Amino acid sequence: MSDIAVITIDGPVGVGKGTLTLRLARFLGWHTLDSGAIYRVLALAAQKHKVALNDELGLCQLAESLQVNFQPMSDLSSTQVWLENQDVSRELRTETCGAAASQLAALTAVRQALLARQRAFQQPPGLVADGRDMGTVVFPDAPLKLFLTASVAARAERRYQQLKQQEIDVNIDSLMSEITLRDQRDMTRAVAPLIPATDANIVDTTALTIDEVMAQVLHLVAQKLSML
Ligand code: C5P
Repeated sequence: MSDIAVITIDGPVGVGKGTLTLRLARFLGWHTLDSGAIYRVLALAAQKHKVALNDELGLCQLAESLQVNFQPMSDLSSTQVWLENQDVSRELRTETCGAAASQLAALTAVRQALLARQRAFQQPPGLVADGRDMGTVVFPDAPLKLFLTASVAARAERRYQQLKQQEIDVNIDSLMSEITLRDQRDMTRAVAPLIPATDANIVDTTALTIDEVMAQVLHLVAQKLSML
């Protein structure tokens, strides 16, 4: 395993992983990995190439040849994602795409096929990686692991505001049932289920602002990575 530091941030839908990852990486001057985006891009590629979401072999072949590019904005406020030279950043964020990603993410061989691609993001000076299994499977030796939680209502509301800001049409009630379903699938799948690593620090963000979450996390960074 590489000695380049990694901070892992795992948790369910809409808990604030993405925002925290970008803020923390910007603060530390580190790289980011949005592993969910890789599963989402694979779901889009499957749709484009007419590969079924349960066709494990077809999806693995697609995963191995996947031409995806991540271009963080210079201020790290967001990341543009390109699939086969097409900007898919917007399409990627819909709940339909998230649900399709969650279906193929339950397949063992598909996860295996995407493993090296995710680990390749571990570059100096360090990496902040967000997803579901960053601390348990992809970077099990990370010196700092965070697991974010929040009530379903708070998460649905945040996701609703996020999608509305991006002018993606959503209904809060259907969003709530969609994210509950997706979490359920992610938590109960046989391979790499969504669970905190045994050495993860649990942070409940229900009643916290992003600034408050950052303050707690920076405290942990200072303790665990003897920096700051
Ligand atoms: O985080 P995001 O909502 O973009 O992830 C989309 C889906 O991809 C998740 O619901 C999950 O099923 C899958 N995923 C995963 N492992 C990761 C990241 C995402 O299984 N590390």
